[in-house]
Amino acid sequence: MTTKNYKNWNVRRDDNDILWLEIDKANVKTNVLSKDVLLELEEELNLIKDNLPRGIVFLSAKENGFIAGADINEFTKFETEEDALIAIQRGHKIMNAIEALKCSTVALIHGHCLGGGLELALACDYRIAEDDPKTRLGLPEVLLGIHPGFGGSLRMIRAAGPLSGMTAMLTGKSYISKVAKKMGFIDYAVPRRHFINAAESIIIKPPPSTKKNQIKITLNKILNYKFIRPLVAKILTKNVAKKASRVHYPAPYALIDLWVRYYDDPKKMLEEEAKSIAKLLVGKTAQNLVRVFKLKDQLKNSGSKIEFNPKHIHVIGGGIMGGDIAIWCALKGFNVTIQDQNHEVLAKVIQRAYKLYKKRLKSAMLIQQALDRLVPDDKGISLAQADIVIEAIFEDVEAKQNLYKDIEPKLKEGAILATNTSSIPIQKLSTVLKAPNRLVGLHFFNPVAMMPLVEIVKTPDTDEQVYNQAASFTKKIDRLPLLVNSTPGFLVNRILMPYLMEAVIMVDEGIPAQTVDKAALEFGMPMGPIELADTVGLDICLHVAEILSETMNISVPSSLTQLVKQNKLGKKTGQGFYTFQKGKPVKNKQDKSTTIPGNISERLILILVNEAVSCLREGVVESEDMIDAGIIFGTGFAPFRGGPLHYTNMRGGDQLLKKLEQLQHTLGDRFKPDEGWSSVFA
Ligand code: NAI
Repeated sequence: MTTKNYKNWNVRRDDNDILWLEIDKANVKTNVLSKDVLLELEEELNLIKDNLPRGIVFLSAKENGFIAGADINEFTKFETEEDALIAIQRGHKIMNAIEALKCSTVALIHGHCLGGGLELALACDYRIAEDDPKTRLGLPEVLLGIHPGFGGSLRMIRAAGPLSGMTAMLTGKSYISKVAKKMGFIDYAVPRRHFINAAESIIIKPPPSTKKNQIKITLNKILNYKFIRPLVAKILTKNVAKKASRVHYPAPYALIDLWVRYYDDPKKMLEEEAKSIAKLLVGKTAQNLVRVFKLKDQLKNSGSKIEFNPKHIHVIGGGIMGGDIAIWCALKGFNVTIQDQNHEVLAKVIQRAYKLYKKRLKSAMLIQQALDRLVPDDKGISLAQADIVIEAIFEDVEAKQNLYKDIEPKLKEGAILATNTSSIPIQKLSTVLKAPNRLVGLHFFNPVAMMPLVEIVKTPDTDEQVYNQAASFTKKIDRLPLLVNSTPGFLVNRILMPYLMEAVIMVDEGIPAQTVDKAALEFGMPMGPIELADTVGLDICLHVAEILSETMNISVPSSLTQLVKQNKLGKKTGQGFYTFQKGKPVKNKQDKSTTIPGNISERLILILVNEAVSCLREGVVESEDMIDAGIIFGTGFAPFRGGPLHYTNMRGGDQLLKKLEQLQHTLGDRFKPDEGWSSVFA
């Protein structure tokens, strides 16, 4: 039996009187709950109201998953809180209607089931998810500066209890089916081939519902008691505060508040959820985090210009970077060989690999498979088979050039030669090559497993094809490719270095390192600049700063040179600007009320912004957006501010320019506004 035809839903009522509602959003690869999808669903629910089927099954026709969430493009369009509230209430009405249906409802979930998608599933009586690592369920809204908005904040806690439910919502993490079942928010994890049978038998002979008030575990019941909730909330709030301040990230605090105040009254809690999210949606934090989400997509797209499937990666240099790059590529499924002139280094690489794989892969079989893909090759025998050769030896022009001369004749035809140099212009290295068009920069950041960005650096000689292949490969190993022209420091180090040096200059002036760092943290940086320099290694900072000072207006502060001379290199030697104990800098307890002079963060941020303007003027990357993306994903620049140039636009370019001129007047020419200001922020 068929019912109405929709643009985004395939609807079928079968002989068992089961209604199959298959979402298949038109003209896109991924299902999202956009306005048109929701309106059609609402229409169908109205249509069947007076002639209910025996049961309803929600499923997806898309190969990549169930539903990825609400439509993020609609998020940024709300001009007022009232507009946002209307859209949210539409979603609420539909989810409430699904929950109130007098027939059994089942969600059949494969692939991603995120945000609004999971909220729809939570409104059903039963949730069955595919038992496969590709199936991931979660409520990641908090990462976009909001919280669940289609009833999820109530229904997740009902299903999983306050501890697991709140953890999922406050971290934004997504979970595989087995874990989701353990946490309580899905009912069954089964192979996909059993989907149809499982849904049919649940509807024909429904097991006890897991939907309403179904928390069986007493602890969860107790934690939900009215007089216990504020105590639990205190702990949750304290943990949130360690990671995100209320001023910069209001969403997690609002979520905790909703639960504490309204959990006893579900109707009220849903109404308040809608109001709260409408307010957050039009706030600056959510708008900027949505912007960052889109920037990430733009970066991923740079890796989609061509399809490239390298079979074999060969890495030369098994130190900090080369080792970690090889480990990462093998983790992501590539066959990798790693070469170093010192074979002891290679044993260490394998040890490090085991540690990371154990943490990430958990299963003994998957760990073994990943280790099998990573093969030490101290003689470089596999070089000739590699589709990409990544060089990560010492940062020394001559050493790199000698290596290139040696290996070029052995490279396979069409193989890419990539260098991880952080400061040497690529064109300086390519002069020794017979085919300089095959050389490209693949600049990973340290630590490779944590830093999502890779700068893909080209010279005028680099083949467009090689450039695009390098970007495609970067995307395949789950990193974000940023296309950059080869200028000293590329994009990220060039913008970061003046900021780090300004921080050191302030320490030289007598401002405590901790105070400088606190100013940056208050601005929203993930780590203060002095601690960052200590963590990266003061020798590396000094080396890059010295190279950049040849072309940029950077003077290297004397304390940095002194510390390196004394072999006080930061975290790795236990002493730098900070003393390190168990890998953590020792800090004095500061009085919370101590006010940090505003001038510190102005100096740090303005010198950084000025360099960003200079990069924009020179066309180091293709757009303003790409500068913001590079600095956010390459340095962790306060994401809720949307990037340095976006921040400048928001504060007013002319205002910041005036401040920069004042700083130039009082502190010198390192603050001289770049010529780009007049064209960019006129
Ligand atoms: P490292 O000193 O830890 O490792 C270099 C390794 O290369 C050593 O194990 C050495 O034995 C090996 N090596 C040297 N010459 C060789 C040759 N001719 N053949 C085979 N192996 C050789 O250095 P690190 O820190 O890993 O840096 C490597 C590259 O990555 C440099 O170009 C550096 O600028 C860049 N980089 C470093 C970052 C960092 O934070 N350490 C960040 C981003 C890039």
